[in-house]
Order: sequence, then structure tokens, then C-alpha cells
Amino acid sequence: MTDDVRVRRLGADEAAASVPALADVLVDCVEGGASVSFMLPLPRDKAEAFWRGVAEGVSREERALLVAEDHDGGILGTVQLILAQPDNQPHRADVAKLLVHRRARRRGVAQRLMAAVDAVARAEGKTVLVLDTVTGGDAERLYQRAGWEAVGTVPKYALMPDGAFCGTTFFYKHLD
Ligand SMILES: CC(C)(COP(=O)(O)OP(=O)(O)OC[C@H]1O[C@@H](n2cnc3c(N)ncnc32)[C@H](O)[C@@H]1OP(=O)(O)O)[C@@H](O)C(=O)NCCC(=O)NCCS
Repeated sequence: MTDDVRVRRLGADEAAASVPALADVLVDCVEGGASVSFMLPLPRDKAEAFWRGVAEGVSREERALLVAEDHDGGILGTVQLILAQPDNQPHRADVAKLLVHRRARRRGVAQRLMAAVDAVARAEGKTVLVLDTVTGGDAERLYQRAGWEAVGTVPKYALMPDGAFCGTTFFYKHLD
């Protein structure tokens, strides 16, 4: 169960300090076959560079970075809310990079992270959330359970880490 898991939003300094632990989660997910922007092999320096960029985005208040931690403060999972949007979409945010380390899956960690995303979005005045995910992947059920609506699928939108095409399904959620 997730009683021993804490979900929280990181500040900019914490985000920068968490780059190695976040890279561990990203590399594990890609090596496990997740289509999350990266191909195999994913070098560690590339994964760390990605998270340094995320930490910079947190410091500019362009994104919110959430983590799920175990009782020792080790990072089990993460998700982001991209707050910076065009002038005509101030009420909208994108949800990105929901990742749970393989060792921590099927314990409700992702469900907890997505509930926390809703809370952060509300606190930031965001009422329309959008995300996309691999068509037919494990995350689709999770999003549907969390009240997200599927709006459609684009075949061959992206590649799996091994190079095979995959479709992408877009989801939205209204918060009110
Ligand atoms: C998709 C992903 C984030 C799910 O993370 P997770 O923490 O395992 O998710 P949850 O535990 O909340 O739910 C997953 C499943 O475990 C089940 N579950 C949750 N708590 C449970 C428990 N205590 N005991 C048994 N099963 C449980 C859920 O019902 C769900 O079942 P389902 O897949 O059959 O619908 C994770 O698999 C992952 O990181 N995948 C790779 C990256 C990825 O694809 N991310 C999505 C990008 S958009």
C-alpha cells in the first residue's frame, strides 16, 4: 500500500538536488520499455541533462515537479505539471512525465501522484488539464479511473524505445 509513500512538490533547489535520483527513475522506465521521449540506450548524462532542464523550469516557475518518496526520502515516482502556457490559455496546464520506478509499481503510487497533480493544478488556478500517452499502455486505465476523458488517438505519433512506432492517445480533465 502507499501509507509509507509521501507525495510532495519540490522547490527549485530540491529539484536540482534530486537530478540523480530522478535520472534513476527515468532510465529505469525507458529500460523497461516506456515511450517517454527517449530511445534506448539512454545514457545517464542525457537523463541527468533532461532533469537539470526540468529543475531550471521549476526555478522559472514554468513547471511544478512532484515526487513520490519512500520513508527514506528515496524517489519512487514523479510527475510534472507544465504551468507556462500561451497568453490565451492561462487556465490550462499539461501533465507530463508520469514515471514510477519498476520496483514501486502496482502500489498506487501513480494514482497518488495524479491526485496530487489535481491539487497543485487547483492551487495554481488551472481548470483544464491535458496529457498524452501511449495508446494501449498501462497508464490509460489509470487516467480513466482518475476522471480523464480520452479525446482521440494519433497512429504512429511516436516511437517506443526500441524504435517501433506507437500510437498516442490524448486526454483532458476539467477541474471545477
Ligand atoms: C503507468 C505507471 C505510471 C503506473 O504506475 P503505478 O504506480 O504502478 O500505478 P498504480 O499503482 O497507481 O496503478 C497501476 C495498477 O496497479 C493497481 N494497484 C494499485 N494499487 C494496488 C495495490 N495496492 N495492490 C495491487 N494492485 C494495485 C491499479 O489498480 C492498477 O491496475 P491496472 O493497471 O490493472 O489498471 C507506471 O507503470 C510507469 O511508470 N510506466 C512507465 C512510464 C509510463 O508509461 N508513464 C506514463 C506516461 S504518460
